[in-house]
Amino acid sequence: AKRIGILTSGGDCAGLNAIIRGAVHAAHKKGWETVGILNGTAGLFKTPPAVRTLTPLEIDGQIMRQGGTILGTTNKGNPFAFPMADGSLKDRSGEIVDGFKALGLDAIIGIGGDGSFAILSKLAKQGGINMVGIPKTIDNDIGMTEFSVGFDTAVAVATEALDRLQPTAASHDRVMILEVMGRDAGHIALAAGIAGGADVILIPEIPYSIESVAKKIKAVKDSGRNFALVVVSEAVKTTDGGKVQTEYTDGEKRYGGIGQYIGAQIAEATGSETRVTVLGHVQRGCPPSYNDRLLGTAFAVKAVDLIEEGKFGRMVAWQNRQVIDVAIEDAIAAYQQVDIDSTLVHTCRALGISLGD
Ligand code: F6P
Repeated sequence: AKRIGILTSGGDCAGLNAIIRGAVHAAHKKGWETVGILNGTAGLFKTPPAVRTLTPLEIDGQIMRQGGTILGTTNKGNPFAFPMADGSLKDRSGEIVDGFKALGLDAIIGIGGDGSFAILSKLAKQGGINMVGIPKTIDNDIGMTEFSVGFDTAVAVATEALDRLQPTAASHDRVMILEVMGRDAGHIALAAGIAGGADVILIPEIPYSIESVAKKIKAVKDSGRNFALVVVSEAVKTTDGGKVQTEYTDGEKRYGGIGQYIGAQIAEATGSETRVTVLGHVQRGCPPSYNDRLLGTAFAVKAVDLIEEGKFGRMVAWQNRQVIDVAIEDAIAAYQQVDIDSTLVHTCRALGISLGD
């Protein structure tokens, strides 16, 4: 019998609990034990490591329906350059490896995005830890898999936001701007923009000009329609090539505010009344869509199979209607922004949705 660890790392998203449930069920069917590591790698700094035993009875029934992760997560504190209280960075990877070893695990399932995978696979190499990865991120920017867990739900939330903005836009003759997440990739904006009937979709992969956006909005008005919907991805750069970032009290700069910036530009260039909605973390913390539950569950089963076969350093991936496995390093290297020659970009062009260029 094997004893396997499960950890969630990086930003949460919908579907993490479906993965955890799937892995626990599949492992227990094989007569294995499952241990949940708490708060990502942070749980391994503790002596003894912060863990929670996971049994099918305990995790069944409710958790798959819930957003978030019952194990907790963190996207702070890269163990290879851990921020210390005095402002210095310290390599604490040895402590993490010791934590893994103290748990006496045969293998771990690491649930993360490309940033987490880079750290986890480095740790795995350093400590001789058997790891398989499951891709999750609302940004859908992990290479070699068509979908990562969390993306579908985020797109559904952003689409629903557009459904809710359209009636109020029409009632007030307004241009509504919706800023969505996506880190450096425009996948959420593109998918939700098409599904939610946007007139303009701005993504970081395609530089926009305000003249082009204004032209589209004027054309919408000239057609007799009194409102317009604009979707802006958070990492869209300003016209002069800069990124709009907000400085927080912890001294860190994060995206946020590009929607306001572009809303003001549109108001000035078109004379329209604009209002801006920043969707933010509601794209992450909600009940998962059926797609994310399915994907998460199928990914978890495959991850447990890989452990049984002794195939490590692999990430499960969705390609051509099935779950396969690829080398984690290859997936990281294949980081995937929106391909400007892709079907969805073509779809926008064919419909006359402006991409701002
Ligand atoms: O990577 C997921 C994501 O939600 C991005 O879309 C966004 O840029 C970032 O995380 C937000 O991070 P945080 O929750 O740390 O503010």
